Amino acid sequence: MMTRSLPIAGRASALPVDPALDLEDEIVRLKKERNAVVLAHYYQDSEIQDVADFIGDSLQLSQAAAKTKADVICFAGVHFMAETAKILNPDRIVVIPDLEAGCSLASGAPADKVAAWKARYPEAVLVSYINCSAAVKALSDYIVTSSNAEKIVAQIPADKTVLFAPDKNLGGFINKKLGRKMVLWQGTCIVHDTFSERKIEGLKLRYPGTLLLAHPECEDVVLRMADYVGSTTGILNYAIKSDKTEFLVATEPGILHQMTKAAPAKTFIAAPPEANCACNECPHMKKNTLEKVYLSLRDLEPRLEMDEALRNAARVPIDRMLALS
Ligand code: 13P
Ligand code: SF4
Repeated sequence: MMTRSLPIAGRASALPVDPALDLEDEIVRLKKERNAVVLAHYYQDSEIQDVADFIGDSLQLSQAAAKTKADVICFAGVHFMAETAKILNPDRIVVIPDLEAGCSLASGAPADKVAAWKARYPEAVLVSYINCSAAVKALSDYIVTSSNAEKIVAQIPADKTVLFAPDKNLGGFINKKLGRKMVLWQGTCIVHDTFSERKIEGLKLRYPGTLLLAHPECEDVVLRMADYVGSTTGILNYAIKSDKTEFLVATEPGILHQMTKAAPAKTFIAAPPEANCACNECPHMKKNTLEKVYLSLRDLEPRLEMDEALRNAARVPIDRMLALS
């Protein structure tokens, strides 16, 4: 029988995977055996979403991680999401299918640079998007996600300057809505930065009546054209409830799996990137595969391990967010 070894990040599994294995069945078996739960973000491959116990946006996934009674959390998402699950569950085993599944926003905001930036505004409040490292979370007064950023920033006293990191597009979107004194870290998401205003305009002309649904990480020029701006769950719910039937979706196309499942009679078109590439797909999210989900449950590796002091410091602004959401 032919076997193959899969290269996985972190402490790689030494044992090969039998290609005859039914990975879905094995994952179901391992979940029971290990009292494990699989949490998946909408940007994961559809086959990963289909074995997940819970699929959601980053706020819902944090809430699910905070509530779970499972002994093992397999977090099918990117590193900062699994790290958040570990911060909320220090005594549980948290595994991620690929430890190298990062995020351009998180890596574009190193903690030492954010600390130096914050020091220039001693009176300000630092609000960080959850797409950042635990070290940046530890420096922050509040953590927010795309679904609660407006609500949380609105609760900060009006006389306070808000430093917002690391996504300038989400920060700019909130700033416009609330008219606050805000200073924005100049970070962007490599995926949401690629959508083409020109091609979206062309598609809207070709298919009149199509609504543009956009994630707030998109550039301002795309957000201004959008009929709805919201988190991944917000986009999904808007499309389900709308009496319209055609939608252009300006976020990572993994979300289309749940959209077509929930509303099979409606048409969803992934908004195109400017270049002729698949760069509207998140290369970090796509590092996770079904085989790696299976291996992470089989071997309980790679695990999220964190220094206790960092974990405790990062937890404070996350708990504030969960209380205010
Ligand atoms: P959501 O909060 O909408 O899940 O977004 C997370 C993310 O990484 C978007 O790129
Ligand atoms: Fe990070 Fe962008 Fe990927 Fe979301 S889509 S995980 S913000 S790189």
